[in-house]
Amino acid sequence: MLDNLTKLTYQTFQQSKNYFGLAHKILSSQLRNLVHPTVVQMSNASPEVIVKLQNRLNQLLEADWQDAQKQIYPQSLLFDNSWEDFFRYYPMLCLDLPQMWERITQNRYQDFSPETYQEGYPNYYLQNFHHQTDGYLSDLSANLYDLQVEILFGGAANPMRRRILAPLKHGLQKFQGLPPRQLRILDVACGTGATLKLIRAAMPQASLFGTDLSPAYLRKANQLLCQNPGELPQLLQANAEELPYLDNYFHAVTSVFLFHELPASVRQTVIEQCFRVTKPGGVLIICDSIQMNDSPDLADMMDGFPKMFHEPYYRHYIADDLVERLEKVGFQDIEIQVHFLSKYFIAYKKEG
Ligand SMILES: C[S@@+](CC[C@H](N)C(=O)[O-])C[C@H]1O[C@@H](n2cnc3c(N)ncnc32)[C@H](O)[C@@H]1O
Repeated sequence: MLDNLTKLTYQTFQQSKNYFGLAHKILSSQLRNLVHPTVVQMSNASPEVIVKLQNRLNQLLEADWQDAQKQIYPQSLLFDNSWEDFFRYYPMLCLDLPQMWERITQNRYQDFSPETYQEGYPNYYLQNFHHQTDGYLSDLSANLYDLQVEILFGGAANPMRRRILAPLKHGLQKFQGLPPRQLRILDVACGTGATLKLIRAAMPQASLFGTDLSPAYLRKANQLLCQNPGELPQLLQANAEELPYLDNYFHAVTSVFLFHELPASVRQTVIEQCFRVTKPGGVLIICDSIQMNDSPDLADMMDGFPKMFHEPYYRHYIADDLVERLEKVGFQDIEIQVHFLSKYFIAYKKEG
């Protein structure tokens, strides 16, 4: 009885985030129409696609609920929400919209304020991904990022991120003789720390590491993660093409929403690096966008996404064979999962 009530509360909570995301999208596109009627609009999804998306979302929420029931992670995670950030930064997100539209109308996709430091970053990275002001290079961007992702996915970003936790725990089972603190897990391109926070909740004692190219995002991750009990994850600024860790160091490596933002050759290099730092017997879990071959019914949506959200490498990503890339460097036993709008590649490094 109590469980049913909790489940209903969870579903209502998630559905309200979904409606909030929808309301924001509708309102902001109406406003944008008034100010900049020429900006490219995503074509309206057909009723069939909307039903498919709602079914996929319901399945994701059911999987999320079931994993919490199995105690893969605490049930409290299902209700976790950064209200302070919401009230503080949602007004800023709205105030940021006009300059974002301005950039879109003028086709300015590599536009950074003079205060941002741009030296030393690879060219492919210096982009206003998702039309974000300052790309990944400012504190403003880091403060708005999670809200923007919440709106984009209708509140389903964390339920999608949490789908890595069951395979992660499963993949680590073979190391269960080790004291939990000796289990080392790396999150590549950890951004503002959302995935590390989830891993910490599921594995309170493991040693966690995070790396990202953006100092601003790492600062934000640090703020988020130090509010949680348990040892603080070790965060390092680094390019995922040259991970600053020893060979065979981590029992598990995760990466969430990175690969669609990399050019093809960089995708391969990052996979090579993930292989190098993973221990024999260890697991790599990639979570990223769905692709054409697993979701042809959402082809129109995927087609419109890169232009609508400025994702210059997405079109190549959705047709890319990541399994081939993973096998090429030596990963094996690759399992694929799809949940809502995300796809998961779970790959093992052969035991030595
Ligand atoms: C879409 S965000 C995903 C962030 C986070 N994993 C999440 O789940 O929200 C992409 C992240 O990848 C980082 N990134 C992009 N290219 C990178 C690279 N070559 N090396 C390290 N980080 C990179 C960006 O700074 C950004 O934080």
